[in-house]
Amino acid sequence: MPFRLIYRSHNRIPADQLKSELGAIFSVARSQNKKADITGALLIDGDWFVQTLEGEESAVRALYDHIEKDKRHERLSVIDAQDVEDRVFSRWSTARVSEDGQPDIPLLMNRDKGGASPAAGRPTTPEQDAVLDRMREAAKVG
Ligand SMILES: Cc1cc2nc3c(=O)[nH]c(=O)nc-3n(C[C@H](O)[C@H](O)[C@H](O)COP(=O)(O)O)c2cc1C
Repeated sequence: MPFRLIYRSHNRIPADQLKSELGAIFSVARSQNKKADITGALLIDGDWFVQTLEGEESAVRALYDHIEKDKRHERLSVIDAQDVEDRVFSRWSTARVSEDGQPDIPLLMNRDKGGASPAAGRPTTPEQDAVLDRMREAAKVG
């Protein structure tokens, strides 16, 4: 049974370095997480990061302990940590979920533009929507 951890943290990256630092974070996350069989998503919303990590519990907890030490964010708080029936981001080592950037969940991007094309079917699964809503809510609490 997979384990899912969702945490929120406060961004410490100066605005002029944000683009390059985020590029570096996604690049490392995608290759490292793939190796550890961890999937998930990272939302960037203004000053807040909200990240979902899914995988084997010990691997997820080890990765969280590692990420927690990163000086590019602070004030980490775990929002949820529990066993789950299934992964919801099984296709993404680290999906990018951003309100103003370029989300790389293609169908989600379509939805943000006013709905996926009929041929594309459902933009996201209800299970993904539930986790994504939770992540967006967490970023708003500020
Ligand atoms: C918000 C945020 C999310 C991150 N997510 C991941 C992640 O999912 N996987 C990962 O390997 N590193 C992630 N990192 C980067 C790690 O903290 C760390 O820099 C990276 O794993 C390289 O570690 P190393 O220099 O010890 O090899 C994240 C960093 C931040 C600030």
